[in-house]
Amino acid sequence: MRKPAENVEIFKRRRKKIIEKLNGAALIVAAHPEQVRNDDVHHFYRQDSNMYYLTGFEEPESFLLIRPDQKPETVMFVREKNIERETWDGFRFGPEGTKNEFLIDAVYSIDKFEEKAIELLKGFEEIYYRLFKNPDADARLQKVLTALKRAQGRTGYGLLTIKDADLFLGEFRLKKDEDDLANQRRACQISSDAHVAAMKFVKPGVSERQVQAVISHEFHMNGAARVGYPYIIASGSNATTLHYNFNDQVCKNGDLLLIDAGAEYNYYSGDITRTFPVNGKFSSAQKKVYQGVLNIQKEIIAMIKPGLYFKDLHKIGEDRLTDLMFELGLLCGKKEDAMKANEHRKYYPHGIGHWLGMDVHDAGLYFIKGEPRPIEAGMCFTVEPGLYIPADDKSAPEELRGIGVRIEDNIVVTANGCDNLTVGAPKEIDAIEKLMAQR
Ligand code: GLY
Ligand code: MN
Ligand code: MN
Repeated sequence: MRKPAENVEIFKRRRKKIIEKLNGAALIVAAHPEQVRNDDVHHFYRQDSNMYYLTGFEEPESFLLIRPDQKPETVMFVREKNIERETWDGFRFGPEGTKNEFLIDAVYSIDKFEEKAIELLKGFEEIYYRLFKNPDADARLQKVLTALKRAQGRTGYGLLTIKDADLFLGEFRLKKDEDDLANQRRACQISSDAHVAAMKFVKPGVSERQVQAVISHEFHMNGAARVGYPYIIASGSNATTLHYNFNDQVCKNGDLLLIDAGAEYNYYSGDITRTFPVNGKFSSAQKKVYQGVLNIQKEIIAMIKPGLYFKDLHKIGEDRLTDLMFELGLLCGKKEDAMKANEHRKYYPHGIGHWLGMDVHDAGLYFIKGEPRPIEAGMCFTVEPGLYIPADDKSAPEELRGIGVRIEDNIVVTANGCDNLTVGAPKEIDAIEKLMAQR
């Protein structure tokens, strides 16, 4: 018998927390569907983040149903045990195993979903469910909801109201507690160590793919199940493509290498970018761009504390990066005019960061009813200013063409400021050069 990957009390605590806020509505979460890659080969399976967040259960074809203050309060529907299928595809907990191992009140076969859900949802006026993520789950729920409506006869009542479960659960996932943070910290630690390993490995002539292998080795040797997003291993002007992931070129003497890679540990993802010279020594042109971006990144991190607005961090980043563009001779004229015309977006087209957690671009709102929200203790996000100068940009000083720099750290907001979870990966010029000198 397999065991759940984590202590299941964690998931029980999370369910308790959300049950208190359901206000009498039921919640239904569907497992992520399996995706066919070709013929009978599937893509690597990863459970839906919300399903894992509330159960720790990693099998497809399953549902969680929560009925606040009812008996049973937590219900799951899972695949039956099937010795033949398990011989091919691996262990299944089955209804009984799931009930015992995952501390769920009642667990039924997935084949009974429609029949049982009709019984279990009777009397509810609202449910939380995320439509359109899993078409098969949507179709099954449609049968349940139409049957419930039909059962009301001509009383005039319609379908149960469906509210967005992802929005509801996103607010819990955004504010991380100690259970969440233990995983988040570990994901960031593993990710930092892998960036260090890459810095020690890189030299002229190695391929981007080999660098990826070094990082991947470090991730898996330290317990990461997978990555939080595709590796970006971008040497030279490849770094000016934001989500470059061909990773098939040779790293050349004199070029920078931008690595954006994050390990996923217990479903929490790191998201670190470091940019460093392939030969271990920044050129003076590279230094000018790199130090400029680094100063801005550090200034923003130093400002973070509860009460600040995330969008203001973005604004400050954009403002400072535009100053840097003028200093470097990338823009000319009046700053105000350049910003109004969005000229700075040519060299810095993305935002300052994003919520970070189980999904690399994590759940949770940035605005509430159109108003920006202040950041709070327990929120995790990235700070990732960058400057990207296309290789064919004739308007840029020649020595800067083809340089792409991004520096990305992962932050958790604390009561009075923030903790940087990715300090393990060096980013000061002298620290990087010193580390690389040891190769
Ligand atoms: N790695 C994707 C991002 O930094 O947002
Ligand atoms: Mn990143
Ligand atoms: Mn990021």
